[in-house]
Order: sequence, then C-alpha cells, then structure tokens
Amino acid sequence: MMMMMSNIQRSFLLLLIFLIHSMDSGECSTQNHGPASLNRSSFPAGFVFGTASSAYQIRSLMVVVERLLLTRTIVIRNDFQDYVELCYRNFGDRVKQWITVNEPLTFASLGYANGAFAPGRCSNCSGGNSGTEPYIVSHHLLLAHAAAVKLYRDKYQVIAGVDEINDGKISLEDNMRIEYYKSHLSYVQSGIMEGVNVRGYFAWSFLDNFEWSNGYTVRFGTVYVDYEDGLKRVKHWATMNEPYSYSNNGYNGGTFAPGRCSSYMGNCTAGDSSTEPYIVAHNLLLSHAVAVKIYKTKYQAYQKGQIGITIVTNWFIPKSANSVADQKAVYRMLDFLFGWFADPIIHGDYPNTMRTLVGNRLPKFTAAQSNMLKGSIDFLGVNYYTTNYAAHTLHAVKVNMSYSTDPQVTPSSLADANNESLSIEEARKDGLRIKYYHLHLSNLLDAIKEGVNVKGYYGWSFFDDFEWDAGYTVRFGMIYVDYKNNLKRYLKYSAYWFQRFLLH
Ligand SMILES: *[C@@H]1O[C@H](CO)[C@@H](O)[C@H](O)[C@H]1NC(C)=O
Ligand SMILES: *[C@@H]1O[C@H](CO)[C@@H](O)[C@H](O)[C@H]1NC(C)=O
Ligand SMILES: *[C@@H]1O[C@H](CO)[C@@H](O)[C@H](O)[C@H]1NC(C)=O
Ligand SMILES: *[C@@H]1O[C@H](CO)[C@@H](O)[C@H](O)[C@H]1NC(C)=O
Ligand SMILES: *[C@@H]1O[C@H](CO)[C@@H](O)[C@H](O)[C@H]1NC(C)=O
Repeated sequence: MMMMMSNIQRSFLLLLIFLIHSMDSGECSTQNHGPASLNRSSFPAGFVFGTASSAYQIRSLMVVVERLLLTRTIVIRNDFQDYVELCYRNFGDRVKQWITVNEPLTFASLGYANGAFAPGRCSNCSGGNSGTEPYIVSHHLLLAHAAAVKLYRDKYQVIAGVDEINDGKISLEDNMRIEYYKSHLSYVQSGIMEGVNVRGYFAWSFLDNFEWSNGYTVRFGTVYVDYEDGLKRVKHWATMNEPYSYSNNGYNGGTFAPGRCSSYMGNCTAGDSSTEPYIVAHNLLLSHAVAVKIYKTKYQAYQKGQIGITIVTNWFIPKSANSVADQKAVYRMLDFLFGWFADPIIHGDYPNTMRTLVGNRLPKFTAAQSNMLKGSIDFLGVNYYTTNYAAHTLHAVKVNMSYSTDPQVTPSSLADANNESLSIEEARKDGLRIKYYHLHLSNLLDAIKEGVNVKGYYGWSFFDDFEWDAGYTVRFGMIYVDYKNNLKRYLKYSAYWFQRFLLH
C-alpha cells in the first residue's frame, strides 16, 4: 500500500516480486507443519508461486535511504541535484517559482525525532536517535537545497524560457519519468544480474496534483510499456497496482498523497470526496487502456509478453447472516471496491449499482473509450488482505456525500494485534500464518477446480516490512527481521512450510 512520500523517498519506490523456489533451507525446523495432502503438485502444471516484496518497504532499502541521509552527504546531494535538474529541464517553461524542499522541518522532526512519518526513526522507535539524527538530516537537506539553488542559478535561471532550450517543442514527453525509471530499472537489472528472479516491476508514477485540473492524462501508464531499452525479459506487465488505493485514499479520505478530501472527511486543504475519487479512478482506467493499447499494437507481437492490472479488494460477509439487506450490501460493497475497476476493464462500463447510487457524479465513458477498455487485460492481478462485515446503512446520506457513504454500506472488521514482547524464537513460530496459507491455498485450489482460471499466487510478504500506515508494528513476512540487531533475518516456520509445500 502507498502513503504520502517526499520526492526523495518516492525516487526509491519500486516493487519487486521474487520467486523463492531456491530459498536457502538453512537451519531446519524439527516441528512438523507439513501439508499432508496439499502441495505444489496439487495445483495445475505451470501455476506460479511466490511471495511479493516492495523494495522501499524492505528495511534494508530503507536503511540505504536513511544512510544516504544520515551519512553520505555527497550521494544524497548528487541524487537530489539530478532530480531537480530533471525538474528544471522539463517544467522550466512554466514553473517560475521553485521551492527546493517543502517543510524540511517536517521531514527531519517527524521522520527522525518522533518517528511519526517515514522512515519512522526515533530513540523510542526500532532504530534512530532523536537527539542527533534530526540535526544531521536537516543539515544534509540544507546542503541539498544549496546545491539545487546553485545549479539553478548557474544553468537555468538566466535563460528566459525553455522554448530556447527545447526549440519550442517542449512537451512533458515523459522525459522526466523515463529518466527516473531508468535509474530504477538499473537497480532492478543489477538485481537480475545478481541472480534475483524478478518477475514483475511496478513503479508508482509521478502522480501528484500537478495535473489535477485535467485529471491524469492518458500519458500515465505509458512509460513502462513504451520503454524499449528497459526490461526486455519482463513478460508480465501490470499497468497499475491498486488504483483504488490511489483514488480512495488520495481523494476520498485524503490519507495518502496527494491528500485531497472534503472538510467533513479529514484535514485536507482542498478536495471533494463526492466527485474527485470518481474522476481520478476514471482517468486511471483510461490510462490503463491506453497503456494496454500501446503494448498490444507496438510490443506484444515480438515481445510475446502479457499485460494486465492489479486491483485490490476485500471480501465481505453480511453482518447479520439472515438479513437480506445485509446480503445485498455485500454485493454493493464488492461493486464499489472490485467492480469499480474490474467492470470497466472487462465489460467496458461501471457496475449498475454505482451508476444508480453515484448518479451523475460518476463520469461516463464514450463509446470509443468503452471499447478500448473492454477486455483490456491478458491477466488480472488481485491483491486481497482480509474479509469485512457489510451492513446495510439504513439512512442514505444526502448531505456531505462521499465515496465512503455512496455504497450505503457500513463495513467493519476484526484486527489482529502484534505482540512486541515475543522473543525471536517465539515470533518465528507463526502457526497462524501457516494455517492461513494452508486454508487459503486449499480454498484457492477448490476455486480452480470449480473452473476459476487462476495462474499464480504471491503471498504478502517475503520479509517483515515497513507498512505504509502501520510502520514496523506489524510483521507480515515469512522471514523475520530483527530490527534491533543489524537486520538479521530468520526463516519463520511458515517459510519452512512453504518450502516443503513447493518441493512436493
Ligand atoms: C502432494 O499432494 C498430492 C495430492 O494433491 C498427494 O497425493 C501427495 O501425497 C502429496 N505429497 C506429499 C509429499 O505430501
Ligand atoms: C516510548 O514507548 C513506550 C511504549 O510505547 C511508551 O510507554 C513511552 O512513553 C515512550 N517514551 C517516549 C519518550 O515517547
Ligand atoms: C457536513 O459537514 C460540515 C463540515 O464538516 C459539518 O459542519 C456538518 O455538520 C455536516 N452535515 C451533516 C448533515 O453531517
Ligand atoms: C484534524 O486535525 C485535528 C487537529 O490536529 C484533530 O484533532 C482532528 O481529529 C483531525 N480530524 C480528522 C478528521 O482527522
Ligand atoms: C505476548 O506474548 C507474551 C509472551 O509470550 C504473552 O505473555 C502475552 O500474553 C502476549 N500478549 C498478547 C496481547 O498476546
């Protein structure tokens, strides 16, 4: 999942998917969690198993970023300088007032003094020193600022307009994004050369409120399919990861970047939770369709890959099992979460429930757009985390409307608390996770036997990681990371379980 990030952090955002066939068995658990009747060979030939991971969310990469900020002044300054140069070059025609860093105080104090923001460091956090690090970080941010100003003054400020640089032909042309992805991709490629089996690449784009008034134009999403020198070996392309999180969290609740919402939804400076989530989702869908079209017309024939999208959904069960109203609420919630993206991509339009309940706040596709969207996937990626209850909301909200109230459903959930006081040895005994994977894979297999065409499954996650809105307080990994002890890693019992599952 995503969260609001500074540009520096954003530059490190990429998502890698590893396969762990060849996981080092290391020390071996004596306990038997072996799946007697369920294993890899129970699944159809060619079914792909793996675990997913996200570079920025893995502590080791976080540490790289932190070390850059904390120690390697030159590197962070050069990195920042490269970044601002791209901005000067690409937006210089219209941006006449540049701000190098927004709220360095927030970055230094919330990130490194009380740990409330990423990277979540503080004396009382799992790593950090509130007495020194905020000062070191702000020192380096100041130096980065000074370097950016010098570059601007030396190279760009004297030139009247970018027209003179670009011969009048400036268009955003995605140069900036391409430059950025190039540096991302070089990380990925070096990983591949070191033997990491990378099966997917997703880059959160430069989506921010920069182009908000026009919506995100269809350019978004084209970079990674239009990028020929890139990952020639990648055969599965996902145009986007969880567009729902972007439109809902960014524009309904305002908890993710760009933090827009109505005043009755949160503390945003601007936004409209009753319309913007729908407009944003609409433009994301169109972007997806264009990206797919480019891939299909220009690349697929010789590259022989597949293209799809990854969308997120929860499952829902009625709050009162016997209530017909709650049973209907289940399907409305699914329409609003899953159908919002899946229906246009598969059928070319939003679900009828959404048309009815959202009315003219829900944008319309032209016939050509609808055709372009219809069937615009070779595969569908589904991220799912949990199941919620759904209860019918008795009184439809007519004032202060939002995406949250439009389905007329009140969802609720059960949460599982993390226990920090467990020893590593105890924490590795993750029987609940094994039970979860076992039951889940059994049900997945049942679905396949009933005809659902499922091609692969990636568990979240490979390592314990930094969760965007929960920090290090939750541990999803099959591999335990000891944050207090030089990030030492330990296979949890679920990793052994999974290994055994894969070997049979
Ligand atoms: C693997 O699963 C198959 C059926 O799905 C079963 O017949 C076989 O005994 C299992 N093998 C092991 C070693 O558990
Ligand atoms: C540190 O964390 C503990 C446990 O969450 C809390 O009780 C304590 O008040 C915190 N101390 C400071 C100085 O924030
Ligand atoms: C609508 O939101 C405004 C601003 O947050 C609030 O003052 C008002 O009470 C809300 N109205 C209703 C009916 O909830
Ligand atoms: C908005 O911010 C205030 C002050 O920080 C806080 O008390 C309040 O709970 C916030 N409201 C929401 C909806 O997040
Ligand atoms: C956390 O683990 C400790 C040690 O095993 C145990 O005594 C305690 O009950 C656990 N707490 C929770 C909330 O599960």
